[in-house]
Amino acid sequence: MTSWPGQPVTVVAPATSANLGPGFDSLGLALSLYDTVQARVAESGVAVRVTGMGADQADRPDRQLVIRAMRAGFAATGGQPPGITVSCRNDVPQGFGLGSSAAAIVAGLLAARALAAGRAAAAEPADVLPDAEVLRLACDMEGHPDNVAACLAGGLIITFDTAAGLGVARLEPLPALAPVVCTPATPVATKTARKALPEQVPHADAAANSARAALLIAALTGRPDLLLAGTEDFLHQRYRAATMPETAALVTALRAAGIPAVVSGAGPSVLALTVADRPGDAAEVARIAGLAGGPWRVLPLRVDVEGARVLGG
Ligand SMILES: Nc1ncnc2c1ncn2[C@@H]1O[C@H](COP(=O)(O)OP(=O)(O)OP(=O)(O)O)[C@@H](O)[C@H]1O
Ligand SMILES: [Mg+2]
Repeated sequence: MTSWPGQPVTVVAPATSANLGPGFDSLGLALSLYDTVQARVAESGVAVRVTGMGADQADRPDRQLVIRAMRAGFAATGGQPPGITVSCRNDVPQGFGLGSSAAAIVAGLLAARALAAGRAAAAEPADVLPDAEVLRLACDMEGHPDNVAACLAGGLIITFDTAAGLGVARLEPLPALAPVVCTPATPVATKTARKALPEQVPHADAAANSARAALLIAALTGRPDLLLAGTEDFLHQRYRAATMPETAALVTALRAAGIPAVVSGAGPSVLALTVADRPGDAAEVARIAGLAGGPWRVLPLRVDVEGARVLGG
């Protein structure tokens, strides 16, 4: 074991949209909107500087999510450093269904792993903590796998449970896929949205949902003509509509115009999956959002295909 590196590491972690309609708690898509974390080992104490989203939230440094993730990462790689200094530049809005908690957790874990790899003089960060362990730690902290898996892998992911642990299938979505995110003014905590879900759903709804989830994978990987049908959900959006009526109204208005739209994660953002040569583009989404009432921020994005990464080696 050598000494802790003096140099900082920089990690970028993408926003993610989970569920995508019928893929409740199993589908995730990484988006080209990022949190950037620069972290270094300090002589003592914990210092956190935040610009952008969440800069006005005054978490105690040791409770801050990036720091908690770094602590978990250091614990899994041989021990804590004497101090940590972190600087966060956040573009992912927090509490809007765009995976900000997953981005913070993944960024913290990857930063800690990169610093620990420097200390161990490891050839690769994965030598001190395999990718599967990073995923497992991230899932433990986040409580569900879809956002963290998409944040780590990029692209389109399907998560599933196996006897041996969490499985992740990563797929390459259509290159022409152009996600447009609509964000309202007020956030909704994931916990609030989860409470609105029933314990049981009718079998007919579960069957209909399976068909749509299967269609959605076909649509996202090669059949954009199936996107509108493939984004219809029977498991969660209707139950949450009352907790976010403006979101439900915008999804309905976009879908009525032939644009495949879903609630992003637990909401309240709306994700429209536009594709060149299919109905609707970012301008049309913005026009419909403008008519839907309430101030919507409309962000035309791309799919992030790389996933979270440490910059500059
Ligand atoms: N970059 C960040 N740095 C520190 N804490 C963060 C960061 N991003 C999110 N958080 C914490 O996570 C909370 C938001 O998590 P929550 O899961 O409710 O929303 P989300 O992750 O933005 O959306 P969703 O999980 O529905 O996709 C924030 O209130 C904050 O406490
Ligand atoms: Mg979250």
